[in-house]
Amino acid sequence: MGNRKLLKLGALIHGVGGNITGWRHPDVPVDASVSFPFYKQQALIAEAGKFDLLFIADGLYINEQSIPHFLNRFEPITILSALAAATSTIGLVGTLSSSYSEPFTVARQFGSIDHISGGRAGWNVVTSPLEGSARNYSKAEHPSHDERYQIAEEYLEVVRGLWDSWEDDAFIRDKESGVFFDPEKLHRLNHKGTYFSVEGPLNIARSRQGHPVVFQAGSSESGKHLAAISADAVFTGHDTIEEAKAFYRDVKDRTVKAGRSQDDLVILPGIGPIIGRTQEEADRKYEELASLVSIDKALDYLGRFFDHHDFRQYPLDEPFPELGEIGANSFRSGTDKIKRYAQEHGLTLRQAALRSATPRTPFIGTPEAIADLIQQWYEEEAADGFIISPPLPGFLKDFVELVVPILQARGLFRTEYESDTLRGNLGLRVPVNRYTAALSFNT
Ligand SMILES: Cc1cc2nc3c(=O)[nH]c(=O)nc-3n(C[C@H](O)[C@H](O)[C@H](O)COP(=O)(O)O)c2cc1C
Repeated sequence: MGNRKLLKLGALIHGVGGNITGWRHPDVPVDASVSFPFYKQQALIAEAGKFDLLFIADGLYINEQSIPHFLNRFEPITILSALAAATSTIGLVGTLSSSYSEPFTVARQFGSIDHISGGRAGWNVVTSPLEGSARNYSKAEHPSHDERYQIAEEYLEVVRGLWDSWEDDAFIRDKESGVFFDPEKLHRLNHKGTYFSVEGPLNIARSRQGHPVVFQAGSSESGKHLAAISADAVFTGHDTIEEAKAFYRDVKDRTVKAGRSQDDLVILPGIGPIIGRTQEEADRKYEELASLVSIDKALDYLGRFFDHHDFRQYPLDEPFPELGEIGANSFRSGTDKIKRYAQEHGLTLRQAALRSATPRTPFIGTPEAIADLIQQWYEEEAADGFIISPPLPGFLKDFVELVVPILQARGLFRTEYESDTLRGNLGLRVPVNRYTAALSFNT
């Protein structure tokens, strides 16, 4: 089983929360999405819980139907830079779109965070699902789903190439002789491809972990392919253990077919645990959260996955509408799943919208019950670990205080960090600089 000794944990810090009306809950600080003290507090809770990483999601288009957290939130690189200074060991993963940015800038930004944090940076590559993003980035049109993934593939090649611009011993910095660097160890990428033309070199060296850890979030065929050929980690989401196991096996097999080891890719589904001292208490907490969601808000929430499709045009209490290709150019893997589930279970639009806005996941229960499920998913190879995405911000503390000690007592999770780099804690290899590798191969 290689490096797969302990399960991995990430914490998604999501301001007032991913739940569309969760901000109205009495325990939620209403300004959490733009409060540095709040982000710092959550980061320190996760670090005290020995989490591998913090995860910051992002988006590039909002409108009146977006969830409150999306309307007014921090840009990921900026908040991660601040959190790098406020933490010491936990990994710092931020989302940045390969459809609306330039590889040279992004390679620099993550290269810089990697140095600032001492080798703790990670980049979650997303392809941007919403068409409105094009209108915010001076583009005539939003590339299709398939093209966005083709761009992402070339983009990653360029970024990884730029990250290797300097061999690890390139900087001599000898005051006596006046030699600052060894020109033999400086490399120009000279990339000319379909979408990018980048000469290099990058103006920042590799950090202690070689390259920042690359996450991929997208679960369609194209998303799985991209993960298998070039990601270090995958952020995904599944409703059942069977679905998660099938995804896990598929992506690990594709990784091996791509000539890598299956341990080179860590698969982390997102889960939103709701914890109670008893099952009844946990169910009550879920009901309290669900009761805040009106059908109106649920339709907005559902619509966003389909590029803000207006579901108000359909009858609420009739079978989920036939949508054809709507959604396929947006959150494709997510919309395919919503359509399939609604059809297989005969849901009405009302049921599908409420289920999507406040899913009743299996991870609602006592700390022991949640630890049991986590153990089962981990041991049965449905996951290498999890991104904890608390439905309400306060739930992260509950998880750290109540579930983590059980996982530790069972020998499933660390009691001390194994490393002070993100790669080290995730059990991922430090990639050897391609030019150094080529040289040692030739000699
Ligand atoms: C678990 C998960 C998390 C995602 N997080 C983000 C995000 O933070 N920002 C973003 O713009 N897109 C995010 N996406 C969207 C994907 O990057 C992608 O654009 C979309 O899901 C379509 O790709 P797919 O059909 O391969 O899933 C996420 C997707 C998944 C499945």
